[in-house]
Amino acid sequence: MTDDILPHFTEMVLPSSSSGLPPWRKSLRTLRDRARNYRSRLLFARQGISPAPEIIAQMPQLEINPGCRLQFGDKCKVWSSSVATVFYANHRGEILVGFGVSINQGVLFIADKGATITLEDHVRIGPQAQLVTTGYHQVAPGEPIKTASIVVGRNALIGRRANIMPGVTIGMHSVVAACSVVTKDVPPRTLVGGNPAVVKRVFDCPDDWIRDSDLQATPQGA
Ligand SMILES: CC(C)(COP(=O)(O)OP(=O)(O)OC[C@H]1O[C@@H](n2cnc3c(N)ncnc32)[C@H](O)[C@@H]1OP(=O)(O)O)[C@@H](O)C(=O)NCCC(=O)NCCS
Repeated sequence: MTDDILPHFTEMVLPSSSSGLPPWRKSLRTLRDRARNYRSRLLFARQGISPAPEIIAQMPQLEINPGCRLQFGDKCKVWSSSVATVFYANHRGEILVGFGVSINQGVLFIADKGATITLEDHVRIGPQAQLVTTGYHQVAPGEPIKTASIVVGRNALIGRRANIMPGVTIGMHSVVAACSVVTKDVPPRTLVGGNPAVVKRVFDCPDDWIRDSDLQATPQGA
């Protein structure tokens, strides 16, 4: 990078980091964030959803039809910026989110046809992952449509753009690599990856471990 370009580049990068902002802009940002969260809490409350998660950037899309349920534990975060995160529940579908769960932008949750999506405590979902409880169409004549609940175990990490298929249970602490398609249950403390996802390795950790909690400085995001 030449010396002429570098000053412009630095100028472009600085505003995205709040540490480089003058105090009045930091205060404005804090006010804006508080207003957004207040608004999102109101919108969630109107749908009978309390506690509401902390919303970063835009309000996610909520379509929770009568007889369905969306529920969050305390201290959850939902990113929904350039791509909206979508929570859709239909025909008695339920989306049940535990404590301290972090959901990145553009994630799609579809709980339909009486099935439930359960995210246990401290789960992290990467950007644009998809968790859908039904295939919606038959594969061949006379066959049923595959519909079944999805469970993501405590402290599991779902990588960006991963697809979790109907009926899958992901064990506690396990990791789904980015862009994987998970068609079968994943045991606890296991890294899976690929399409279809297969076991890449098994690791050890205490039951009460929370991902990234032992890092000095946790990077931003899920
Ligand atoms: C899987 C991941 C966590 C890396 O874990 P790791 O333990 O360092 O794994 P390695 O890079 O050593 O790879 C282990 C194996 O997994 C495979 N692998 C890694 N990423 C993969 C992916 N996305 N899809 C398929 N296989 C993958 C490697 O090829 C390797 O396979 P092999 O043993 O057959 O050679 C990382 O690649 C990943 O996908 N992270 C997701 C990050 C993310 O989306 N975070 C969300 C918040 S932003």
